This record gives sequence, structure tokens and C-alpha cells, in this order.
Amino acid sequence: MDSAFVIGGTRFIGRHLVEDLLEHEYDVTIFNRGNHDNPFADDNRVDAIEGDRTNDSALEAAAETVDPDAVFDCVAYYPRDVRVGTNVFADADAYVYISSGDAYGREEIPKREDETPMRPCTNEQATDESDDTYGNRKSEGDRVVVEAAERGVNAMSVRPCIVYGPYDYTERLDFWIDRVLEYDRLVVPGDGTNIWHRAYVEDVASALRIVAERGTPGEFYNVGDRRLVTLDEMITLIADAAGESVEVVHAGPRELEAGGLSSEDYILYREYPHLLSTAKLAALGWESTPLEEAMARTVDEHRESDRDGSDHDPGREREERVLGILDTL
Ligand SMILES: NC(=O)c1ccc[n+]([C@@H]2O[C@H](COP(=O)([O-])OP(=O)(O)OC[C@H]3O[C@@H](n4cnc5c(N)ncnc54)[C@H](OP(=O)(O)O)[C@@H]3O)[C@@H](O)[C@H]2O)c1
Repeated sequence: MDSAFVIGGTRFIGRHLVEDLLEHEYDVTIFNRGNHDNPFADDNRVDAIEGDRTNDSALEAAAETVDPDAVFDCVAYYPRDVRVGTNVFADADAYVYISSGDAYGREEIPKREDETPMRPCTNEQATDESDDTYGNRKSEGDRVVVEAAERGVNAMSVRPCIVYGPYDYTERLDFWIDRVLEYDRLVVPGDGTNIWHRAYVEDVASALRIVAERGTPGEFYNVGDRRLVTLDEMITLIADAAGESVEVVHAGPRELEAGGLSSEDYILYREYPHLLSTAKLAALGWESTPLEEAMARTVDEHRESDRDGSDHDPGREREERVLGILDTL
């Protein structure tokens, strides 16, 4: 495979994907609306086509002009998007859809591609625009991939868990990095052993390329860090990468409540562990970056950015109340 077409490509996962594809000698074309700055504007190895993927004829025209070997769909949020993508690029050597770990419909440890049931999706959910139906729509996209593969389309799906790393506009990890950089004492809900599987963005990018090159049509591949860390261990990784030392203070439901908080106010905290098996992807020869390296790059870029994760802030004043209560115990 020599040429790649990336629907999206300028913000986070797509941006890292383009970098990975260039490192692996692909000719790359990105397709987006041009609403976000193009970090590859000065790179003559990357062609840019402006268009909206919800406009089928714009996508068809781009497909005809480029005729790519591999297609990566970073902007498929509705089953219809995957249907159009698999039709327009039916002749490509690979069409890779970015699904999500949220497509799984049952809590179990770990969640496996070929065993864990997927979320259902009603007709109403398939076109619903709220965040509540994100996982339903993503799982229906996976079913569209299977149907396309049955018709002979080389369609595959990659399911990332929570993605982190440089340029992460969701700012979820930025919240915790900011806390480590700004404060000596951190409130952590629960006992710190909570696990929410995360995936370093460069590893998601390499997973997308490897699945295109070596995956089997109609199959799904989870992607997440090979080594998982608890919330406490994540904070230690951040602190080590930042050269900071912090005291972690665990707060149970009662202490949090006394400060007007609950564990749900904390981003990247989840009661039941979320853990994806990555064995199927690893069997294709994919590996993940050592966590210390991944966190060092993430913290370095955070420092250069203006992101602080403040949208996820439960409120420091309330946390100070919790710390005060714990100090008196
Ligand atoms: N972040 C996570 O934790 C996570 C986890 C699981 C799955 N995912 C999946 O990863 C994908 C998102 O990746 P990303 O945002 O990081 O990718 P990205 O490709 O780096 O950024 C999104 C791109 O899509 C373009 N875009 C948005 N709407 C468009 C449209 N209607 N037509 C054409 N281009 C459009 C944006 O540019 P313009 O605005 O200029 O068009 C931008 O280039 C989604 O499918 C999401 O469900 C993310």
C-alpha cells in the first residue's frame, strides 16, 4: 500500500496518524472542512482536499481524484457515515473505521472483540445527536463494517479506549497534569486503585496503519496501552515525568460529600474497571510505547499548550474543604 486518504487528520488522532503514515513512506491526502489549522500545510508530502464528509458527492469526488489504497475514517460518528464510507471506498485495499471501546454493551474484564456483546442501536439512536447514544452509534458502525466485508469490501474497525497524548483537545488528562503541576496535595476519589484503560495516541495511530496493512476484513481490533495503570499510578507517572512530587489524598464518598463533591465529578474515574484486551491487535505485530516515554511526551506538550483541563475541574475550593475534613480525622 502506497497511498493513504485520511478523513479528518488535523486535530488529534488523525494528526498523529498522518505523522505515522509519513514515517512509513505513504503519500497522504487529508480530507476535512478546513475549520481547523492544518499542521501539514507546509509539508509537500501531504495533499489537502477541503470538503464535508456529510456531503456524499464531495467524498465521491475526492475518492475519484485520489483513488487511495488505504482509507482511514476519523470522522464517522453515525452508522450512515460508515455506510457511505464503505460504499465510496469499496475498491480500496483497506477502509479503517475508528470505532470506540464504548461500543461494548456489557461490563466485563477484559472486553474482548469476539466475545463481549456490543451495544444495540435503534433507528432513533442511529441518528440521535446526543452524547448518550455515542456508543450505540459506534457499535452500529461496526455492524456496517461487517456487512460491507460480507460484500467483499476490505473494511475493518479499530476500537480505542480513552486516548491521551499531545494535542488532546478533550483535555481529560490535562486536568490531572494541571493538578500535579499546580498543587502539592491532590484529592483522588476512592482508594486510588480505580482503572480506566487509556491508549497513547501514537499507538492508536500505528494500530490504524497496522490494521490497514495486516488486518482481516470484517474484524474489530481493540487498542489500549499494553500495560495498564491505576489512577494513583497514573498520577505518579505524571509527577515523575514533570519532575514534581505530590501527596495523594484518597477521599471516600462520605468525605467527598462533605465538600459537596462526588466521585462522578472526577474525570477518568469510573467505579467499575474498563479494560480492553489488546491481544488480537498485538498478534498483528503491534506494540505500545513504554508508559514513561508516552507520559513524558504528553507532559512536555501540555506545558507548551494553553490547555489546563479546567472544564473538568470539580472546584478546588470544594476540594480544600475535603482536605480540611480529612486533616481533622
Ligand atoms: N479521543 C478519544 O478518546 C477517542 C476514543 C475512541 C474513539 N475516538 C474516535 O476518534 C475519532 C476522532 O478523532 P480525532 O478528532 O482525534 O481526529 P482528527 O482527524 O485528528 O480530528 C478530527 C478531524 O475531522 C475533521 N472534521 C470534523 N467534521 C468533519 C466533517 N463533517 N467533514 C470533514 N472533516 C471533518 C476536522 O477538521 P475540520 O473541523 O476542519 O473539518 C479534523 O481534521 C472519532 O471517530 C472518535 O469517535 C476517540
